[in-house]
Amino acid sequence: MGGRLIAWIDERFPLTWFIRHELTEYPTPRNLTYWWNFGFLAGFVLVLQMATGIFLAMHYKPDAGLAFDSVQHIMRDVDYGWLLRYLHSTGASAFFVVIYVHMARTLYYGSYRSPRELVWWTGQVLLLLLMATAFLGYLLPWGQMSYWGAQVITSLFEATPLIGKELVVWLRGDFVVGDATLTRFYALHFLFPFLIAAVVVIHLIALHAVKSSNPSGINLEAKDNIPFHPYYTTKDLFGLGVFLVVFCGFVFFAPDFFLEPANYEPADPMRTPEHIVPEWYFLPFYAVLRSVPDKLGGVVAMVLSILIFAFLPLLDRSRIPGGARYRPIYRAAFYLFVADVLVLGWVGSQPPEGAVIVVGEVATAVYFLLFALLPVFSKPEERWLLRRGLPPKVQELVEAEARQRAAREAARRAAEGSP
Ligand code: HEM
Repeated sequence: MGGRLIAWIDERFPLTWFIRHELTEYPTPRNLTYWWNFGFLAGFVLVLQMATGIFLAMHYKPDAGLAFDSVQHIMRDVDYGWLLRYLHSTGASAFFVVIYVHMARTLYYGSYRSPRELVWWTGQVLLLLLMATAFLGYLLPWGQMSYWGAQVITSLFEATPLIGKELVVWLRGDFVVGDATLTRFYALHFLFPFLIAAVVVIHLIALHAVKSSNPSGINLEAKDNIPFHPYYTTKDLFGLGVFLVVFCGFVFFAPDFFLEPANYEPADPMRTPEHIVPEWYFLPFYAVLRSVPDKLGGVVAMVLSILIFAFLPLLDRSRIPGGARYRPIYRAAFYLFVADVLVLGWVGSQPPEGAVIVVGEVATAVYFLLFALLPVFSKPEERWLLRRGLPPKVQELVEAEARQRAAREAARRAAEGSP
């Protein structure tokens, strides 16, 4: 019966071909490490967030007078409502952990470079959508930190030249964050995950066109690839098991770990919390915002600190594959960058006083300096490494690429010279 149904579908739609071609028999490098599990984990967390979100939406009330109480109702009265909420709130943090590791892996191995630029750029769109979704969702519990966080972030748009004030009112739907803001944030928070899912499909189509990179940095020959199933389905499921142990540890034993105590108080527009902090995953960018004394300058620096990742394929001019693996200067820059982001995160969590301000300014300068220095050091580093000698396969690859480039250039010149 099942076989006949599939045959019926296959005559009208390439289902079996698609599953074989893109999943089970999809050729995958045999040497992928566990760092390559995080894309799959991101997909899993996306599905988890969408599934728990839909059930939360059945009980949540997007009304400034009811929102806070409806969350308490979910926690206390709805069957397993506490579980739904803790899965969703811990899931938001888990999503960022997974995505930041996914991005760090890509940075370390330089997988953003040709031919994977579109995979990287669609990933960048996913990062922006994810940040927007998290920010919108944080208002929904209508606690003190939700309210004042939204107040601070929306007021940043005031720095926009000429239309700043009008823009803020337009975003909030009111002169202050209020009921109109809550309902529009709710509508968009519901919509954005579907956009994320659509962009994930584009991300994966782009990935399958160029195939995954691998830790050696060398494009493997067909014989060095293995089918995705059962090898990587098993590896991904094992990784998922480990992830779930840690994730469930937080959900069941420390569900408040990622939640702000001030958010257990209902929003009060007449009382500002002593210290307004965003969620941990925004802290480094928040620190960049505060480190520039001018309001507009701070907003521009913060937006740039996120968008600058998109320029990486253009900034990195080295032709040595494998990213940090074979490039000592790039490797040092990578570790310095990770340390700098952690320092920025700490700065963002502290009240902006005394030494914290200075540390924030230095860390912000280092952050941008590392991006600015990449085009400066990548070519000299490449020349130095080629002179010093690389592993034979890598050296061969770089030389073959240089020959191909020279041949293309010669062909172009010949074509231009011909009548
Ligand atoms: C909802 C979010 C995302 C999902 C579901 C997702 C999913 C995936 C999957 C399944 C893979 C293949 C397995 C792997 O290499 O880990 C992948 C690869 C990749 N992703 Fe993502 N991704 C997401 C976000 C991002 C972001 C934010 C970036 C960077 C800004 C990014 C950049 C890349 C790159 C460059 C690759 C290719 C890596 C390589 O071949 O070495 N992704 N992604």
